[in-house]
Amino acid sequence: MCGIVGYIGVKEATPVLLKGLKKLEYRGYDSAGIAVLGGGGLEVCKAKGALKNLEEKVSALTSGAPASQAGFPEAQFSGTMGIGHTRWATHGEPSDINSHPHTDVSGKIAVVHNGIIENHGKIKEWLSGRGVSFRSETDTEVIAHLINYYYSGDILAAVQEALKRLEGSYALGIICENDRDHIIAVRKESPLVIGRGRGENLIASDVPALLAYTRDVYYLDDREIAVLSRDDVAFYNEDGERIRKTLSHVDWDAAAAEKGGYEHFMLKEINEQPKALTDTLRPRIIRDGQLSLRSVNLTEIGFDASWAEAKRVVICACGTAWHAAMVGKYAFEHFARIPSDAEIASEYRYRNPISSPRDICIIISQSGETADTLAALRLAKKNGGRIIAITNVVGSTLAREADLVMYTWAGPEIAVASTKAFTTQLMCVYLIALQTGFLRGHLDQEELDRHIAALEQIPAQAETVLAGKEAIQRFASLCFNKSKVFFIGRLFDYAASLESALKLKEISYTHSEAFAAGELKHGPIALADESTLVTALCTQEALFEKMDSNIKEVKARKASTSVITYDDVHHFDRSADTVFRIPRTPDCFTPMLSVIPCQLYAYYCSVLRGNDPDKPRNLAKSVTVE
Ligand code: G6P
Repeated sequence: MCGIVGYIGVKEATPVLLKGLKKLEYRGYDSAGIAVLGGGGLEVCKAKGALKNLEEKVSALTSGAPASQAGFPEAQFSGTMGIGHTRWATHGEPSDINSHPHTDVSGKIAVVHNGIIENHGKIKEWLSGRGVSFRSETDTEVIAHLINYYYSGDILAAVQEALKRLEGSYALGIICENDRDHIIAVRKESPLVIGRGRGENLIASDVPALLAYTRDVYYLDDREIAVLSRDDVAFYNEDGERIRKTLSHVDWDAAAAEKGGYEHFMLKEINEQPKALTDTLRPRIIRDGQLSLRSVNLTEIGFDASWAEAKRVVICACGTAWHAAMVGKYAFEHFARIPSDAEIASEYRYRNPISSPRDICIIISQSGETADTLAALRLAKKNGGRIIAITNVVGSTLAREADLVMYTWAGPEIAVASTKAFTTQLMCVYLIALQTGFLRGHLDQEELDRHIAALEQIPAQAETVLAGKEAIQRFASLCFNKSKVFFIGRLFDYAASLESALKLKEISYTHSEAFAAGELKHGPIALADESTLVTALCTQEALFEKMDSNIKEVKARKASTSVITYDDVHHFDRSADTVFRIPRTPDCFTPMLSVIPCQLYAYYCSVLRGNDPDKPRNLAKSVTVE
């Protein structure tokens, strides 16, 4: 979803902004723009489509192409401060006009915005009544005009006044031609990071856009304002009082956010799973006592016995993270015998959920910024629930608002479709479920040790699955044009099927669905024909016979069938057309392995269909609006 960058320093701002926007491409966008303040005053350039359209437009302008050809007045885009934006259309179609930055009537104030101004209609009417005419269909444009309305020489004061009128969510970057020494940055319910450099300071929606310049960052909290000058950053709360913020250091370096020789980020991230799983698991395991048995150590995050006394576990998330929540639900029931629910955050937030202060609520989000997920967190908190966050982003809003935070140490995930974040989220929910089961007395020390030993095998086993990628690639080359793909499974396999189907639809645009295998005959089987591929995830040993029947049922309707099962199981050799194998692990842990061939399958289908798997159409990495 929209990306913001801003720069003030001694360098030429234009290349810094364009480079920063490139690092935010992964968030999903359909147009882009920059505003630079220099000798030529405030100059704005915007272009629909890929960033390269903007780059070409800027370069045509800077190399002095005739104004008529480029469609903009002669401008140089030379200046040492500016703001930039990648837009993911919400209000108004993707177009040059609707792209950000938006300027006020005087053309002296420029604004970039991520979020939605919910009362923009009212403000627009109010401003129109005062003679303001609007150029775009966006909600953002009202902000520029509103700031101008309150402007009388002090841009900060004008922004502060304008903010009082805005409802909704926003991260903003604002510059004003009359103030060549400041960028104003604001956030409310949309992410914004401030990068602290030497003689230069930056703003960005996410850390990768800053890493070429600094790893020292400030995380803005809701309703805080930052005023960036070349040598300083001043912070204000919503009452306009100066506040102090703590500088955080980002450990991962720029290389972690690069492709590292892989053709796409997604393939790189799929291949990084063994390391990500190890990094997420290892620091949480200790060996105790005379027998040196393994235990889960969650004291670093503050998880003590009081958490295990919960009456119920509610796990809320969106998208892929919700599939991790489904696995979590099964894991909590299985290991800890606690009633558990996996909730879609966008549903949960609008229900009137029955909750008690004895609930624990686990909120899962890779980005830690998903609007619906944060709303679910706030609702659960309001209802007295205690909150555990599972997130991949240090300093994210989710991390800051939860009572406890368990990080997935997956490293930056750039591809829109989540892979390593998912499997590491699973690792985290398993660890919490195991520890809860142990503290509640449902697992003894030896059982716990055995389960942890199995978890310790997972990274190497994931490596084994990845080593089989050529077979998946071959399979994809035969099946990538299937018009319908169904994933079926039971219990933990059903949760993994949901994620597998989502992956395939996200990046290959194939119509794929997941079904609890027992539900096939209650409707979905009507769809099965020769154009259908059914992939059955078969790792729940007690249900092999049932799955075998399901495979035979769809085969009888001429569907092609493939199976993912253990490497020592030959149960499906006759019923399935193709069998993919994963190493043995307890049935409850298989989603961490069985999803990998499905991720690879989705990736190869996407490439074979000529798509960009890293930036699927219409999707955004971080969905910071509803
Ligand atoms: C978007 C992304 C998905 C992701 C979901 C939740 O839809 O495209 O890949 O699973 O948001 O994101 P989160 O950051 O909360 O895990």
